[in-house]
Amino acid sequence: MAATTAELKSANGLVLDEAERASRDEIIALQTKRLAWSLKHAYDNVAHYKKAFDAKGVHPSDFKQLADLGKFPFTVKTDLRDNYPFNMFAVPREQLVRVHASSGTTGKPIVVGYTQADIDVWSDVMARSIRAAGGRKGMILHNAYGYGLFTGGLGAHYGGERLGCTVVPISGGMTERQVQLINDFKPDIIMVTPSYMLAIFDEFKRQGIDPRQCSLKFGIFGAEPWTNAMRSEIEHAFSMDATDIYGLSEVIGPGVAQECVETKDGLHIWEDHFYPEIIDPETGAVLPDGEKGELVFTSLTKQAFPIVRYRTRDLTRLLPGTARPGMRRMEKVTGRSDDMIILRGVNVFPTQIEEVLLATDWCGGHFQIELTREGRMDEMTVLAEARPESWDGAGLVAHAEKVTAYIKNTIGVSSKVSIVAPESLARSQGKAKRVYDKRPKG
Ligand code: DLL
Repeated sequence: MAATTAELKSANGLVLDEAERASRDEIIALQTKRLAWSLKHAYDNVAHYKKAFDAKGVHPSDFKQLADLGKFPFTVKTDLRDNYPFNMFAVPREQLVRVHASSGTTGKPIVVGYTQADIDVWSDVMARSIRAAGGRKGMILHNAYGYGLFTGGLGAHYGGERLGCTVVPISGGMTERQVQLINDFKPDIIMVTPSYMLAIFDEFKRQGIDPRQCSLKFGIFGAEPWTNAMRSEIEHAFSMDATDIYGLSEVIGPGVAQECVETKDGLHIWEDHFYPEIIDPETGAVLPDGEKGELVFTSLTKQAFPIVRYRTRDLTRLLPGTARPGMRRMEKVTGRSDDMIILRGVNVFPTQIEEVLLATDWCGGHFQIELTREGRMDEMTVLAEARPESWDGAGLVAHAEKVTAYIKNTIGVSSKVSIVAPESLARSQGKAKRVYDKRPKG
């Protein structure tokens, strides 16, 4: 197959990359070839991988077909942390043109690096993602993902430029200014976390501007879990098409997978660069397509920071390709195994609460979950913010009782629901913090 950056005409006139038009067999052949290279590259150039492969008694030459990947060791976050800052790189530091780092909740950040060729691949997959979301050359792209060590801002920026868009690099924050620039510059596309999009929505209303009349046609939302209920909320509020974008710093940044606007049925993984597996998080066994488990990625083309069988902790399942038939889809990520709340034995994800709250007509999607301990019992309190037009000043007690009962019946846990005044919960400017664990530690 020729270079995947080559752009080709598809039957319906849309310009797609060659890999997006490839058959499943062609993708598998390409992956097999690229995986053999990537495993050898990691083994030959990164001490950690040599040690981990040797410890498992496996050598890159043992890889002959895709099923052989299961013989190789997983990589986990602590492996990356233990090699802080530069020991996971497979090229001399001088060949890196950029580093990014993920903040991480505790301890040292994870540092990732890129050669010029890596930045080119990343720009290509991001351009492909923006196009799959409906973006086209010549459009204006309002980029409200944070710029800096976070991969969201610069990843979207380079992809927008590669596609031929006019990029407005506003970054996150200054919500009043976001609305002003949307009104004045009239962008076609917005890229931002879904939770911050809600804050922008509130600001439109505060300024008395109807967001349905604004110029935005396509929203590309990711970096945190969000539900189809939230999609409907945003699409209705702005009269736009909203699609999901997925990625993580360790694999490249945003642009690992993207939902196609014509189907909105989960995210196509750009499998010519990233190889996905789903494993049972308890046993590590590889699960067949269609079964839900933990998503694992191996990079196929990355030079500076090859990653082998990286355990993302994100929970999803793999499905066959639709809008791009050669590449599999992943179902919308409902949550990370680390975000899962285990309350009196029942597993609860914040996205389940989001879905319940958005099914009401008084909550617009701003919420927090507080975990406390009363005696020996863990308690969950949902703080749900009322829409301004529904707020009665008193807590909408009857509504709160209904939601408590609904959570009990659908998710199976007892919780307290407290409806709070509009604008009273902290707004995210990037990834929303949903869970506040106030239980005593230990
Ligand atoms: O969040 C990269 C990104 C930026 C993706 C902008 C999309 C848009 P990290 O900061 O390394 O990278 O965080 C990666 O965020 O493992 C998931 O848990 C979560 N995540 C990212 N996209 C989605 C999504 C960026 N669409 C972590 N749905 C991942 C659910 C997501 N979770």
